[in-house]
Amino acid sequence: MDLTLVLSILFLSCLHGVSSDPRYFTSLFTLGDSYIDAGNFVIMAARMVPPVPVWHDKPPYGMTFFGYPTGRLSDGRIITDFIAEQFGLPLLQASLLNISDVSKGVDFAVGGATAIDVDFYERNKLVQFKLLNNSLSVQLGWLEELKPSICKAKKGCRGCFSKALFFVGEFGVNDYNFVWSAGKTEDEVMSHVPIVVENIVRAVERLINGGAIHVLVPGNPPNGCSPTILTLRSSLNQTGNYDYMGCLSDINRVAMHHNSMLNASIGALRGKYPHARIMFADFYEPIITLLQSPNQSGDVNADALRACCGGGGEYNWNASAICGMPGATACNDPSTFVSWDGVHYTEATYRYIAEGWLHGPFADPPILSEMGH
Ligand SMILES: *[C@@H]1O[C@H](CO)[C@@H](O)[C@H](O)[C@H]1NC(C)=O
Ligand SMILES: *[C@@H]1O[C@H](CO)[C@@H](O)[C@H](O)[C@H]1NC(C)=O
Ligand SMILES: *[C@@H]1O[C@H](CO)[C@@H](O)[C@H](O)[C@H]1NC(C)=O
Ligand SMILES: *[C@@H]1O[C@H](CO)[C@@H](O)[C@H](O)[C@H]1NC(C)=O
Ligand SMILES: *[C@@H]1O[C@H](CO)[C@@H](O)[C@H](O)[C@H]1NC(C)=O
Ligand SMILES: *[C@@H]1O[C@H](CO)[C@@H](O)[C@H](O)[C@H]1NC(C)=O
Repeated sequence: MDLTLVLSILFLSCLHGVSSDPRYFTSLFTLGDSYIDAGNFVIMAARMVPPVPVWHDKPPYGMTFFGYPTGRLSDGRIITDFIAEQFGLPLLQASLLNISDVSKGVDFAVGGATAIDVDFYERNKLVQFKLLNNSLSVQLGWLEELKPSICKAKKGCRGCFSKALFFVGEFGVNDYNFVWSAGKTEDEVMSHVPIVVENIVRAVERLINGGAIHVLVPGNPPNGCSPTILTLRSSLNQTGNYDYMGCLSDINRVAMHHNSMLNASIGALRGKYPHARIMFADFYEPIITLLQSPNQSGDVNADALRACCGGGGEYNWNASAICGMPGATACNDPSTFVSWDGVHYTEATYRYIAEGWLHGPFADPPILSEMGH
């Protein structure tokens, strides 16, 4: 056959694959922190000398779906699992497991990961303990190292990443937590936002320059509604610091500021890379919506700010009996709770968010929307 014809058929079939069926991704690669970690933290923590204690490798983690702990921080599947299911892809495995077939995707996210490199927090004495070296740029390095294995089986099309969906985030929650925990003021935490957002934006650009086209960038959840943060900061209960839902206003203002800066920066990136499809995923509104939803008997959900799994206290979060530790127990029906363990969410919450990112209204554009306009 004529080589030109072969090449044009090849080219057309690639083009066809990319543009005519936008609802089809052949792989999923995820960078992020504990919200989408499928087990990397457990592996990384065990390798530290001395090992970092971990509780989420024990029951009742995984009680709703897998039936055993997988290293995911939930009672079952997490957002990225529901996205993988939508596209018929396997549920992602942790990259640190070194699985041999990475062609359909792998998860690089690690609990505790920051957008800014960890030595920043150590050098500036914002944390008093050794951090795992798991920041966004480190995860990108892992992805780039793995690229030859990912692309091995995919010769022909314009880059093996063209039909892959990438997640960059959530990032930022840990960055801001470290600064808040160091006793900084709201203004000081706010001043940290531009550099966090810039690091996320630079990571998205690095992916696009490496051939990525479809990149989903989640914003921050309303961390001021987290049972853990509410408990740890309850001693700071000052008039006006709680909003009408009982969440911490200052913490949520930082999250909202982060989200609007990130959303604006993504708007600018779309102008710079018109061939790419960069999606902003709202992680804030879906949580607020769930927190405000009436419970099964149609009443205001008085338990909205309580964790399903914990060791007691106003928000069912207890530092001496964290979910997974002796003394902590899980609620009977996690699907009626927003928060699973005080920081992370229940499978039901994650399913709701994933639906909103796939179909709208919580992603711009929704993952399943048609491309090209
Ligand atoms: C994965 O590979 C790395 C580098 O090749 C190695 O250091 C590590 O021990 C491996 N991990 C597992 C879980 O086998
Ligand atoms: C983290 O890992 C990266 C990439 O391997 C390395 O360049 C960096 O020096 C490490 N940072 C720390 C604080 O260990
Ligand atoms: C804050 O403190 C006031 C007075 O001590 C108390 O009535 C209120 O319930 C507290 N609010 C929260 C959300 O804990
Ligand atoms: C993101 O910015 C666009 C304008 O560029 C706006 O229409 C949209 O509402 C914003 N989304 C969020 C979640 O803030
Ligand atoms: C709904 O919440 C109300 C209080 O707000 C409570 O009395 C009731 O038992 C709850 N119902 C269910 C099914 O959780
Ligand atoms: C927190 O957990 C410890 C250890 O199980 C327990 O002794 C304590 O009573 C708990 N605190 C609350 C407020 O439930």
